[in-house]
Amino acid sequence: MNYPFNAFRKGDISSNELIRQMIVFETTSQSQSQSEKPFISKEQDIQSLDNLLEELNELIGLKKVKVLVNEMIAYTEMQQIRRNAGLQSAPLVLHMIFKGNPGTGKTTIARLLGKIFCAMGILKKGHLIEIERADLVGEYIGHTAQKVKQQVKDALGGILFIDEAYSLARGGEKDFGKEAIDALVKAMEDHKDELILILAGYMEEMDEFLQINPGLQSRFPIHIDFEDYTIEELIDISELMVEQKEYVLSKSAKAKLYSLLASKKKRDGINSGNARLVRNLIEKAIRKQAVRLRHKSIYTRDDLMILLRNDFDFTEGEN
Ligand SMILES: Nc1ncnc2c1ncn2[C@@H]1O[C@H](COP(=O)(O)OP(=O)(O)O)[C@@H](O)[C@H]1O
Ligand SMILES: [Mg+2]
Repeated sequence: MNYPFNAFRKGDISSNELIRQMIVFETTSQSQSQSEKPFISKEQDIQSLDNLLEELNELIGLKKVKVLVNEMIAYTEMQQIRRNAGLQSAPLVLHMIFKGNPGTGKTTIARLLGKIFCAMGILKKGHLIEIERADLVGEYIGHTAQKVKQQVKDALGGILFIDEAYSLARGGEKDFGKEAIDALVKAMEDHKDELILILAGYMEEMDEFLQINPGLQSRFPIHIDFEDYTIEELIDISELMVEQKEYVLSKSAKAKLYSLLASKKKRDGINSGNARLVRNLIEKAIRKQAVRLRHKSIYTRDDLMILLRNDFDFTEGEN
């Protein structure tokens, strides 16, 4: 059977069509055991997987992430189908490491992956529990195990996402962080079919953390690097954000935003390709626009929507 996968990758057929064709293969396959459940049975699941993949691909930038995520999804699908076809399949270990600066889309992708794996039938719920050190590390003996247990319990059926994961290893000898790591490793084993664990944080810190804890590295087969956004990508993201809020950027406002981002990049270098910064700038501009409009007695629908250059005039230190 020649899977129509290449056609899907090239965009010639939709993921809906791909999955349909794969199901046809599965139900006609000689080697399929009758007792095995079909890979995806409900029309609504197929539909929502299609929508979610579209949502992923519509995100601005993240090119390498999208390629890798698409590959991972395809691989996971194929392993399930191979298993159902009686072929050898690799175990689906989907614990991941996300490396990148703040605001590069790590949480956004994790949330979407939860939904995608849920639509694929790999996770029961697909929700995201996002936590950090303080949510896991306790203050007295026994406290940490209890905290980790609770977080794992809340995350079952979904994704447990630990931001700045290396901070677990930073407390020194008497710290309970190490205990949290051990408890997490145990939970990964105990609940390997019910939970995906994602450790996230800055690139260098994550690398160092994994080097110090070599046992961890092998438990996380998927590593995804989130690069800083370019200024052009940040502008696209800002347009998407204002559109979602039913605002628009005037041409000169866009130019002003561009120069704000460019000077920030020049000043700060690292950590300037940050979509959260863009979100904050837009929210600030929206507040400034509100104040500006309040001083006018009449305004049109367009006035209510448009963000002008002046709305992005922030005083020093404000951005
Ligand atoms: N590629 C993108 N397209 C549109 N919005 C994005 C994109 N990446 C990030 N954002 C937005 O930027 C903000 C920060 O993203 P987030 O995923 O929280 O980053 P991180 O977890 O890496 O700090 C969120 O509001 C998110 O919606
Ligand atoms: Mg985040």
